[in-house]
Amino acid sequence: MAETANAVALNESQIPEVPAEAAAQGSKQTVDPWNVQGEIGADGQIKAINYDKLIEEFGTKKIDEELLARFERVTGKKPHHFLRRGIVFSHRDFELILDRYERNEPFFLYTGRGPSSDSIHVGHCTPFMFTKWLQDTFDVPLVIMLTDDEKYLFSEKRTIEEVQGYCDSNIRDIISMGFDPNKTFIFSDYDYVGGAFYRQITRLAKHITLNQARAIFGFNDSSNIGKIHFGSIQGAAAFANSFPHIFGEDEKKTVGIPCLIPCAVDQDPYFRATRDVAARLTYQGVRFAKPSLIHSLFLPALQGPGTKMSASIDSSAIFMTDTPNQIKNKVNKYAFSGGKVSVEEHRAVGGDTEVDVAYQYLRFFLEDDEELEKIRVAYSKGELLTGELKALCIKELQTFVVAFQERRAKVDDAAVRQFTDIRPLTWAGNPKVPKADIVVPKVEGADGAEGGDGKLTKNQLKKLEKQKQIEAKKAQKAKEKEGAAAA
Ligand code: TYM
Repeated sequence: MAETANAVALNESQIPEVPAEAAAQGSKQTVDPWNVQGEIGADGQIKAINYDKLIEEFGTKKIDEELLARFERVTGKKPHHFLRRGIVFSHRDFELILDRYERNEPFFLYTGRGPSSDSIHVGHCTPFMFTKWLQDTFDVPLVIMLTDDEKYLFSEKRTIEEVQGYCDSNIRDIISMGFDPNKTFIFSDYDYVGGAFYRQITRLAKHITLNQARAIFGFNDSSNIGKIHFGSIQGAAAFANSFPHIFGEDEKKTVGIPCLIPCAVDQDPYFRATRDVAARLTYQGVRFAKPSLIHSLFLPALQGPGTKMSASIDSSAIFMTDTPNQIKNKVNKYAFSGGKVSVEEHRAVGGDTEVDVAYQYLRFFLEDDEELEKIRVAYSKGELLTGELKALCIKELQTFVVAFQERRAKVDDAAVRQFTDIRPLTWAGNPKVPKADIVVPKVEGADGAEGGDGKLTKNQLKKLEKQKQIEAKKAQKAKEKEGAAAA
């Protein structure tokens, strides 16, 4: 294997980062995979996250009208309300993914979850909702990583058994988002690391120095070495050659298949590092594809838009296990209001939807644009009161959570195996364009696997044989008929 590290300048990861340890003491906003907090103003109050500033700091691109128009032209689909409303607001090389879709060249989706609790919360659902929509739109494979190792390495208290224990229930949560089992592979790092995936992990690890890891993630001399190495694990799943059972074993082909990563913007530092390495990697003369990203805003904590909803702070979050009553109580008790202190003042001046958490949640979960706009106008004018706005939000959240719980109750062990088994996936891509070189998976020892692209089970082969015999008989009969008619 001839693998060379081409001398390509590090661009993205050289953008100055606020080290996590230092940021905790300062007043600047911090957004990284472990800390999300808005700037602390002179009055000691936490400000809302400034996402435009993040685009500038991280060096990403804003999703603009032009890109959305192109998306609609290429896919023939109206952009998701997250895109229309700027909830999915920034990207890296998303246009390259649209180019590939236009030509029906292979690409895949990659997202993930760090199993830090038994249940995901509504904030975690948002990238998954959007990912499901992307999967339906593009008809491409999706890989979902559960970073049980990350949650162990980055916590003082958690044991390996604890994080592994969360995986099963988190997998069931993710399945309940409605992903297509024929196109989706869910795996945990503790289970899947090895083989092709581990080879790719070490390729990344070899090309990230301690200095770069410090600059990107803010590690210091006391950081354990597992944390320092972890970025190469999260990054490795962004390469198709980590999944030979999906894309085949010919790395000369698979290293060139890019992925699109939908995530909230806190995960960007991992992939900035990954993209830097990808730009320097080749495999037998073939360049590795750089992963593309599409970033979403955070669903704010109930306490306000200065922080994200977090699984480790119970009162900040609506969990997918919450009952309708718990949802009602949490929103009524904790949801930060942009309303005024008295009804009279609110009626006279109106509320501030920018900071109002109930309104912000409606932006995520109320799909009807017209209704949302009516609510915005009424609240801003003071016609709608905080209690009334909260009631609308509670209704929308209850509907969302109850529907999720109904789907979740139907996820059984067989469904979990269906998504987590190492197996080929099937997908078609752009229906308007013939498939361009989609690699036929050829995996050793995958005999007997169900379904798949190009790999047939014994049963399927039998059926195919029978089908052929029926067709041959039909053709024979038709010939005989023709002969009889001619005679
Ligand atoms: P985790 O478990 O912290 O978060 C899972 C996904 O949810 C996003 N997220 C949020 N989105 C909106 N509002 C919030 N309040 C909120 N909190 C979290 C995260 O950005 C993420 O998309 N290291 C990762 C797991 C991972 C991953 C990935 C995520 C591995 N590979 C690839 C995205 C893409 C983690 O701990 O995610």
